[in-house]
Amino acid sequence: MIVGLLGAGKTGSKVQEICHEQNLSCTVFNTSNPITVEKLQTCDVLVSFLPGPAFLEVLPMIVESAKPLVSGSTGIDLPQNLNLKAPWIIGHNFSLGMNLVHAMINILQKTNKLFDEFGLAIHEVHHTKKLDAPSGTALKWEKWSGNKAQITSERTGDVVGDHILSLNLDSETITLRHEAHDRRIFAKGALWAAHYLLKNNLSNDIHDFEQIAGKELL
Ligand SMILES: NC(=O)c1ccc[n+]([C@@H]2O[C@H](COP(=O)([O-])OP(=O)(O)OC[C@H]3O[C@@H](n4cnc5c(N)ncnc54)[C@H](OP(=O)(O)O)[C@@H]3O)[C@@H](O)[C@H]2O)c1
Repeated sequence: MIVGLLGAGKTGSKVQEICHEQNLSCTVFNTSNPITVEKLQTCDVLVSFLPGPAFLEVLPMIVESAKPLVSGSTGIDLPQNLNLKAPWIIGHNFSLGMNLVHAMINILQKTNKLFDEFGLAIHEVHHTKKLDAPSGTALKWEKWSGNKAQITSERTGDVVGDHILSLNLDSETITLRHEAHDRRIFAKGALWAAHYLLKNNLSNDIHDFEQIAGKELL
């Protein structure tokens, strides 16, 4: 498998590291090796950890390359009618452990049955270079809980990703926390998705990482 890695910064460099460990060929695209359609077409699968705005700049070339894509680029709205010629898997959080968290948060949909009054809060902490707030993961957690949550964001140091959910009840608090210690977790999940794309005959649409991984791994 030849991986075309779009962006080899804090997260992409971990993809590069794992490709090296697994003897996978990896072509890096960054500001020193700009993307062209021809160069993308020499790869079997593309993995993007470009910042969102940079991803949007190269989007037309990715579509034209007709190569399957795994994208972790965040904080962007993709245009409608992309007219894809290959399947894409998009994820806000490629941590495979997040699938377990998903299953845990799903149970919160039953909170209304148990309590007349409760408050749901999600606090997310990331490094200072993160462009979007709140994180896509915090928004996903709110959606999975089936309830409105008060979401707060904090940007400090080089925090990889810390999400804390609190269910505040009359006389008790229930807390769930997912703390990412190393960006390798995102790289591993993205490469899992890249293998999945090449092994499975997905339609030429955008597929959600959490849905696929949840279905396959739980
Ligand atoms: N979905 C997930 O699980 C997940 C997890 C972590 C991060 N992310 C997202 O991944 C994205 C990247 O995050 P990061 O922290 O790894 O970023 P980063 O450290 O800033 O790295 C960005 C990389 O993109 C390259 N780049 C930037 N603009 C470019 C352009 N116009 N053309 C070509 N290459 C360009 C940079 O190249 P140079 O080195 O040459 O400057 C660098 O290699 C963000 O959107 C972040 O939110 C997603």
